[in-house]
Amino acid sequence: MRIVSVAAECEPWAKAGGLGDVVDALARSLGRTGALDQPVDVFLPAYRSVVLPPGAAVETLTVTVPGPYGPATGAHPNGSANVVIRSLLTHGYRLRLVDHPVAFDRDGIYGFDDDPWRFGLLGRAVLETLRAEGQPIDLLHVHDWHASTTVVLRDRFYAGDRIVGQRSLATLLTIHNLAYHGWVGLPGLASLGLAPGDRVVAPGAAGIDLLWAGIERATLVNTVSPTFAAEALTPAVGFGLDPTLQWKADQADLAGRPRFFGILNGIDPAVWDPATDADLAAPYSALDLAGKAGCRADLLERVGFDPGDDGPVLGMIGRLDPQKGFDLLAEAAPRLLASGARLIVQGSGDPALAAPFRALAQRRPDRIVLNERFDRAMARRIYAGADLYVMPSRFEPCGQGQMIALRYGTPPVVHRTGGLADTVVDEYLHPGAGTGFVFDHPTADGLAWACEQAFEARGDAAGWARLVGRGMAVDNDWASGPTAAYLDAARRAVALAAAPPPAGRRSRAPKP
Ligand code: GLC
Repeated sequence: MRIVSVAAECEPWAKAGGLGDVVDALARSLGRTGALDQPVDVFLPAYRSVVLPPGAAVETLTVTVPGPYGPATGAHPNGSANVVIRSLLTHGYRLRLVDHPVAFDRDGIYGFDDDPWRFGLLGRAVLETLRAEGQPIDLLHVHDWHASTTVVLRDRFYAGDRIVGQRSLATLLTIHNLAYHGWVGLPGLASLGLAPGDRVVAPGAAGIDLLWAGIERATLVNTVSPTFAAEALTPAVGFGLDPTLQWKADQADLAGRPRFFGILNGIDPAVWDPATDADLAAPYSALDLAGKAGCRADLLERVGFDPGDDGPVLGMIGRLDPQKGFDLLAEAAPRLLASGARLIVQGSGDPALAAPFRALAQRRPDRIVLNERFDRAMARRIYAGADLYVMPSRFEPCGQGQMIALRYGTPPVVHRTGGLADTVVDEYLHPGAGTGFVFDHPTADGLAWACEQAFEARGDAAGWARLVGRGMAVDNDWASGPTAAYLDAARRAVALAAAPPPAGRRSRAPKP
């Protein structure tokens, strides 16, 4: 089995959120299973921020990528670009950087007007590379809309190609974020080399929704938790693609399983381990929790809080995106402060979402602190040093913070949604069996209520220690289930792609 993974993020090279962690950890974990003939290939744009280890053995290959990526020539009347692929074996996979400075040598990963063009280039560069190398692959695994271009442009431009155009080449699309689709209106189609009426464009549509097109075309589609997979089929959480995902789920693979499903992410227990975490003031483990108090004191000193105050310290870390519910914590803050709590918030992204915290932190610097940046070391200190970890996400395909918090002995307070619902057991509903606190309504009151349950539980020191212990014992290791589930999905995708096409005309996905 040979797997090629394509994504816009991969930790530690380029990361904006959980996507980067998953792409890295899954590739590494798949490589360790012994089920692959060679390490996973991970294609990633060579953003300006990507820094390779000095002295790394990098192989380069230049491929000509046809399409609207450079000036027209006789051979390529629609234009082409010479793109350098820099490959190195590292972290248990083969990282393959797609280096095209016009597209990727910029500050930041996303958010440019020409993102569809940039990620269209990524997709075609992958296809051209695989084609030039001429080595058969079994599974093309693409993540989110940015990499979905690989599947869509393959169907449009490479049908019948000996390597990438084979019908039997299986594709798996993993959706980490259903809110971002990669929508391109009719005037923009040319930036992908497409035109209205192309077969990858929905008939009569006002453009192309690249995530939609990937869902339609991929052999199998998954998202990153079973609960989110179910929620994504509803109008409330489906972001307009619920009918498309339902259409996919209504089809079965050869094993009779739906072609759209959920696989819960894991975390890497070696990367997230309070016993070996070099950023912590004092290491600790489930067997010896003493160091956690040292981490708490260190964190509080760093942010200018009184380390002697035993009141609950709430941590929250994330992308400043409406999804994450920072506004709910800001709104609940006065009520939480009134109960003696203090808040440590870290986030990067939309500065408007940080504004309420900035104001609160100015008024009460002794009780609220905002670290408005992406700070790896501080994140680890918050996971370890806080008493509770807050995740009031409005929706959450999986979420990673709650899993890290569990492992760091910091019980999570979460909204019952998506992967949060799948990973945290509510102590209020299951006294003596819980690992955290779960609320049903994504409102400031819902969040404050759940925090108050947690404050009360914390009053019983022995009961609290048992709750912490249960959380630390939860096994979310990639190797304990998720990696095998991806291998199984890969095998099902390969079998389905190899099977003869069903008789009759294939139905199209409902338009987005
Ligand atoms: C996205 C989702 C998050 C998930 C992550 C990795 O960031 O919002 O829920 O954990 O991708 O799959």
